[in-house]
Amino acid sequence: MPLKEEVEAGTSASHVPRFRLYDRKPPPPDMASEVLRGLRAPRKSIAPKFFYDAAGSALFDAITRLPEYYLTRTEVGILHDHCAAVARHVEANACLVEYGSGSSVKVRILLDACVPTAYVPVDISKDHLAQSARAVFDDYPALSVYPTCADYTGPFELPPPVHALPRLAFFPGSSIGNFDPAAADDFLATVRRLVGPGGHLVIGVDTKKDSGMLIPAYNDAAGVTARFNRNLLRHINTAVGADFDATAFDHRAVYNADAGRVEMYLDAKRDQVVYINGEQIAFARGEALHTENSYKYAPDEFVAKAQRAGLECVDVYQDRQGYFMVLLLCASGLELP
Ligand SMILES: C[S@@+](CC[C@H](N)C(=O)[O-])C[C@H]1O[C@@H](n2cnc3c(N)ncnc32)[C@H](O)[C@@H]1O
Repeated sequence: MPLKEEVEAGTSASHVPRFRLYDRKPPPPDMASEVLRGLRAPRKSIAPKFFYDAAGSALFDAITRLPEYYLTRTEVGILHDHCAAVARHVEANACLVEYGSGSSVKVRILLDACVPTAYVPVDISKDHLAQSARAVFDDYPALSVYPTCADYTGPFELPPPVHALPRLAFFPGSSIGNFDPAAADDFLATVRRLVGPGGHLVIGVDTKKDSGMLIPAYNDAAGVTARFNRNLLRHINTAVGADFDATAFDHRAVYNADAGRVEMYLDAKRDQVVYINGEQIAFARGEALHTENSYKYAPDEFVAKAQRAGLECVDVYQDRQGYFMVLLLCASGLELP
């Protein structure tokens, strides 16, 4: 359903609307240049943020329901088991800011336990964001909901109605694993600044484990992840005017144990030339287009990483098998070097 730039509803007595979409216009006006930069490089790549048009968001939801995709159900179990402990650390009258909110499903566990005053789901996929946020608004009558369409890899402004509220950030789904380690450090430091001294971050992180369990999670038998990966090319076609033939690429996932990450690729099935914004990009048969890294972390490794970004570990919650972890982190008041 197409949406107006901003939607308002439920204006309170003080005339602050309780539902409003803030569009920070995330796809850069030079999205074509960004895509082309990655495709002109000797090792071709496209950033994973371009997975998420409406079809990409729906395909990701389908992935989370796959038997091989242990991440979602394990993280949800951990959140259910430990949300009360998290709630004890959250200030009254808080604003919960969720990075990459998608369908806003997991966050309901925290909304129920922590009872914040406001919820700011931040996502790059605008229509999906608006629909998911509206569903939360309908289900939580006392909650103000301000969906913010933004690219969280860059700076964005929080909605003015929440500026004065204490902050709890939520970054589930091990999306932190999509950042290279140095970019993850920068991102964590940005979140630390956003929540401010004494503010908290609840973050879901996938753990290092046997590739026999990791690879099927990124290359399922039903081929849903393959469709998700190829949909990236269809999204590029419509968003920047390209003519990728998505069926001319094979999905591939590998575990790079040295780097501690799962890597996803689209391999060209034949020699081909793709036109993007008037420019020709040649692919040789078998040439790989890199689309995503998913870094995995040991608990101690991630705790140390968070600490370097000024986020002290309050607790690490895990499932019995240690397949996944959810960390509760608290922003220190110290200046970072
Ligand atoms: C892997 S899904 C996770 C969804 C949900 N949080 C979960 O854990 O199930 C990633 C979500 O982040 C959004 N996203 C990806 N890159 C983004 C970016 N750079 N800025 C804002 N949102 C982004 C996508 O649109 C998608 O909804």
